[in-house]
Amino acid sequence: MRAGRTRYTSGRGEPEFLSALSRNYTRQTGRAIAPNQFLFLPGTQTALFAAMMTVIDHGDEVLMSDPYYATYEGVIAAAGGIAVPVKADPDHGFHIKAQDLENAITPRARALLLNSPGNPTGAVLNATEIAAIGKVCAAHDLWIVSDEVYATLTYGNHKFASPFDVPELEKRTVVVSSLSKSHAMPGFRCGWIAASEEFCARALPITETMLFGSQPFLEDAAAFALQTEFPEVAEQKATYERRARALVEGLRKARMVSARMPEGGMFVMMDVRKTGLSGDEFARRLLAEEAVVTMPGESFGAGGAGHVRVALTVGEDQIAEACRRIAKLAETLA
Ligand SMILES: Cc1ncc(COP(=O)(O)O)c(C=O)c1O
Repeated sequence: MRAGRTRYTSGRGEPEFLSALSRNYTRQTGRAIAPNQFLFLPGTQTALFAAMMTVIDHGDEVLMSDPYYATYEGVIAAAGGIAVPVKADPDHGFHIKAQDLENAITPRARALLLNSPGNPTGAVLNATEIAAIGKVCAAHDLWIVSDEVYATLTYGNHKFASPFDVPELEKRTVVVSSLSKSHAMPGFRCGWIAASEEFCARALPITETMLFGSQPFLEDAAAFALQTEFPEVAEQKATYERRARALVEGLRKARMVSARMPEGGMFVMMDVRKTGLSGDEFARRLLAEEAVVTMPGESFGAGGAGHVRVALTVGEDQIAEACRRIAKLAETLA
């Protein structure tokens, strides 16, 4: 800021930031991804709104895996679209099937909104699944808007895969992401769109209308973050993975509730179906009787029914204590 980086900026983003993204995505995809294939936006959420405004017309349908991130319905509706939830089976780790997507497509379908690693599900789609989903989207000429905000957080053998990495899907894919999770800097509101050159040119008048540029000193910080290898990024991932294992382990002996290890992201879906309560009822009782805060699965769509989402945002000791209280409530429901 002292260097005077407080004036108006390029509506696309500052050259250093765009070049840093270009280098990172070129490395990720193994293809040359040019700086004009990106737009700086204040966070994934804004990038998502700009992408939806660019992609859909009034009355267009947007398919999404259910359960889904809580803002998706609003963002689709705000852009004039109609959200079409497609249930992902909890007993298959909430992985959406290409065939189920295909079955939900109508002539009004315009886009698929993907989120892997997923919030709240913790599901990470592998390259084969992405290819199958991409094939369906290509056959029906759908855009793929891919929310990749948790891309750096995958666990065990699970590897992040993106439709943007598939050469035949690049032109129909719009990636939205940010530094909020990877670098634990959500308050900086530093995110982006990654797409084709043509898409970025089309989106630019929309983002200019919304924002008229950004804060150059924040883009400098974001460019620095993208260009620097921080050991904290890997440490953070290891921390979330340990916390997830602590939660799964802490509930292993519980009779009425269960949790499986997430494949990525910052959350664990806990299955409470055996208790006979809805996720909503269980979460409310857990808060009232045991002072443990979770989110009802139903708040992420009907597909989250009978589950509650636990955030891995506290340390292992607190997670272990939460597990004792969760098991205690669950036992009273046996
Ligand atoms: C799936 C998903 N998308 C987008 C966001 C918003 O991220 P950002 O801070 O980059 O706007 C979140 C935040 O929790 C999220 O979980």
